[in-house]
Amino acid sequence: MEKRANFGSKIGAILAAAGSAVGLGNIWRFPYETGAHGGAAFILIYLLCILLLGIPVMIAEFSIGRHAKASTGSSYKVLVPGTAWKYLGYWGVLTGFLIFGYYTVVAGWTLEYLFDAGLNGFIGKTPQDFIHDFQAFSENPIRPLIWLFVFMIMTHVIIVKGVQKGIEKFSKIMMPILFILLIVLGFCSISLPNSIEGLKFLFMPDFSKIDGASMLSACGQTFFSLSLGMGCLSTYASYFSRDTKLVKTAFSVGIIDTMVAILAGVIIFPAAISVGIQPDAGPSLIFITLPNVFQQAFSGAPIIAYLFSVMFYVLLALAALTSTISMHEVSTAFIHEQFHFTRGRSASMMTMGSLMVGIIASLSLGVLKNLTIFNMGIFGFLDYLTAKIMLPLGGFFIAIFVGWYWNKQYSYEEITNGGTIMKHFFKVYMFVIKYIAPLGILFVFANGLGFI
Ligand code: TRP
Repeated sequence: MEKRANFGSKIGAILAAAGSAVGLGNIWRFPYETGAHGGAAFILIYLLCILLLGIPVMIAEFSIGRHAKASTGSSYKVLVPGTAWKYLGYWGVLTGFLIFGYYTVVAGWTLEYLFDAGLNGFIGKTPQDFIHDFQAFSENPIRPLIWLFVFMIMTHVIIVKGVQKGIEKFSKIMMPILFILLIVLGFCSISLPNSIEGLKFLFMPDFSKIDGASMLSACGQTFFSLSLGMGCLSTYASYFSRDTKLVKTAFSVGIIDTMVAILAGVIIFPAAISVGIQPDAGPSLIFITLPNVFQQAFSGAPIIAYLFSVMFYVLLALAALTSTISMHEVSTAFIHEQFHFTRGRSASMMTMGSLMVGIIASLSLGVLKNLTIFNMGIFGFLDYLTAKIMLPLGGFFIAIFVGWYWNKQYSYEEITNGGTIMKHFFKVYMFVIKYIAPLGILFVFANGLGFI
């Protein structure tokens, strides 16, 4: 039998999972969801969701993946053969396929901005120019598709190179640099005039803004940002070694991911308000706000503005890449295990299929604008369907599987590494995954979809 690939070290496992979690979800999606749902109050619900839904489901996914030693698409067939649970695995593969398609569109945008920053194209532009430029670019029928294609190929190449050489090495170098740069940019943003308004928006909750829709968004953002609900991290966990500590890894990933999201908020909101861009500008928020930060914070030192902007987009693109490879891996590993095609061939099938999804999602912002589903454009619909419905639903069934169906002894072995660590925590965890997490998701659904 072929030896299953492994992450080389424990820290490698944490960083690879964190690399999957940290991405456009933190820096692009989190700020615009926070902006659209009123700021600080949304963030509080988000933090609650991370703790009560996100981390427990992450531990559950880790235990499933490591126990089955198979990607999510086949793990249930290994764990509980002959049952309908296998559809939960397929559901994850489908969800990941759809997310990968439209996520790569946005990842492609980061390359356009990198290109522009590299040619010193931000210089002398006003906030209005950036708004106009973003619109013109995202509606262009050709340019975003080229970047989409480039990004898919980059992902494809890393996936074909395999787990340790590709994924792990990459995350290890990139994550710390990204973090430092975000802190520097946070300081820059706070130093802008009027930044205090942005910080208030971010940290002073107005509870009147909370309703079913914002709860659904916070829950969706939790699953999206932590890469949960579709078996992405469960697939990664199948490459964890026996002595990786699942609980510790889950908390580490949760904390890193949350810190990056909050930092992104500290960068974006003070800057947006300072230059007069509304925090609820939607998916374009970071693409029109950030170039302004570089321009204004370093207006006396254009060379620094230049270096920082180039560096930032390099890191943003890389953060997106460590996330896209994790989504791609789910389908590639599944096709490889299921149909016994080579890894290369499996990866090509995934890349080509999702290219189609990506092209439609990208064009839906321009020439296909009038095509709508439930009053949403295709891009918005894909985002809504996957993040707010498919992922939480996947998370719900993962919790049900581990809490109610799967032999508790296996959970125990995984969480305690064979009875050696975290024995007391296990009871708490079982309670949360059995009752709190599923009921929490049901409650959010009932509110958000209008059943209550
Ligand atoms: N979490 C990543 C981000 O925030 C995106 C991502 C990677 C993802 N894998 C996933 C989202 C699986 C949902 C499911 O950018």
